[in-house]
Amino acid sequence: MSRTIIEPFRIKVVEPIGQTSREERRAALEKAGYNLFMVPAEKILIDLLTDSGTGAMSSEQWAGLSRGDESYAGARSFYRFRDTVREIFGFQHIIPVHQGRAAEKILFGLRAKPGQTIPSNTHFDTTRANIEWRGATALDLPVPEAENLSDEAPFKGNMNLAELDRVLSETGEGEIPVVMTTITNNSLGGHPVSLENLRGTVEICERHGVPGFVDAARFAENAYLVKRREPGQSTRSIPTIAREQFSGFRGCLMSAKKDGIANIGGFFATDDADLAEEARQVLVVTEGFPTYGGLAGRDLEAIAIGLREVLEEPYLEYRIASTAYLADHLHNEGVPVVRPAGGHAVYLDARRFLSHLDPTDLPGQALTCALYLHAGIRACEIGTVMFGTIDSESGELEPAPHDLVRLAIPRRVYTQSQMDLVIESILELHADRERIPAMRMAWSPSALRHFTARFEPAT
Ligand code: F0G
Repeated sequence: MSRTIIEPFRIKVVEPIGQTSREERRAALEKAGYNLFMVPAEKILIDLLTDSGTGAMSSEQWAGLSRGDESYAGARSFYRFRDTVREIFGFQHIIPVHQGRAAEKILFGLRAKPGQTIPSNTHFDTTRANIEWRGATALDLPVPEAENLSDEAPFKGNMNLAELDRVLSETGEGEIPVVMTTITNNSLGGHPVSLENLRGTVEICERHGVPGFVDAARFAENAYLVKRREPGQSTRSIPTIAREQFSGFRGCLMSAKKDGIANIGGFFATDDADLAEEARQVLVVTEGFPTYGGLAGRDLEAIAIGLREVLEEPYLEYRIASTAYLADHLHNEGVPVVRPAGGHAVYLDARRFLSHLDPTDLPGQALTCALYLHAGIRACEIGTVMFGTIDSESGELEPAPHDLVRLAIPRRVYTQSQMDLVIESILELHADRERIPAMRMAWSPSALRHFTARFEPAT
């Protein structure tokens, strides 16, 4: 008997959302230079800009905030946090930080040097930026099936193991200080990485004597997708799969703003005692004393509780079903979306959606603006605006490999009827897509363009 999958919670606190008229949205968009990062949140109806730090905390987490121990050193909250992370992830040394990129800065600050290369299935953009900040090269080694946005392969987040082995064989000693694996693979479509692929990565790293690390931001969603998609995993428990993901790796970096279901926080965890000691010394200078690392005691409590809640199967079943609900409805109505749906987001293929536009017309930005203007929904361009390169001779913006629009779904925040409105609005836009105008970039900063660049509709 199939049963309706429900939200495994009820709502206790509510927050109004921004109701605006089309004219108000038009004015807000113009004022923001057609950049959704610059639109005030009160003018957004449904905010799908990111799933990071935007989750709803549970009553237990709010109770945990009251229990937070704010002692400068050795707070009770730290030990609760440390023991939870040890148990779930299996590493000994647990170093709290204020968010994921702080862990990246500590690891690459200590281990990456100019001229070195750091391979990954696909680096997230802050990971890439922290590697490049050290003068090293961030190398993406995705599997070939990830290139085809319509391919239904179950583990398009995987590392290309043959390429990893080749790169490690061809580079000299010390040229590759660490290997990274991101679960799930956010930059490529939120696809999971299989346990088999994680084991393969560990085997190659061990053979070449290079430590492997995991970017664990969405580790629970990855574990659930492994359970659902990988042969032989369907009867295993989520905590068992979650823990096995890290087996053989030297450590992990975590943004607790995703699968920690916290609004802020993260950690660096490792079994390497020397690295942990070096990391704690950097931590004292840049984040805080090693038992709080830039967080309040109450934040450590919220993360410790969130990390257990995120592994509950009814939660993950609802979470993955709601992402698939949005993706499958759009797909079945002929809207081009990246297949198959991953854990945290649905990605529209803006280049196919707006096939009357050229990639230089910034179709991702055009679609993002059109969706806001039409329905007050905020999404995020992941395409030429974010990743396009400026040609050094012509000064022109060169298109990125894809132009996607990410609809990231905050955890435990929106109801099914709100998702129905998202579907309805996108279908309306799709029916009228030829009227969506091209965009031009009017001004851009020298780095991290997508946050502050200004645009205008092409006439
Ligand atoms: N790694 C991954 C895979 C991420 O998705 C992010 C953040 C980070 C690291 C950095 O963590 O934000 O806590 O410093 N991703 C957000 C997003 C911003 O919208 O996908 P952070």
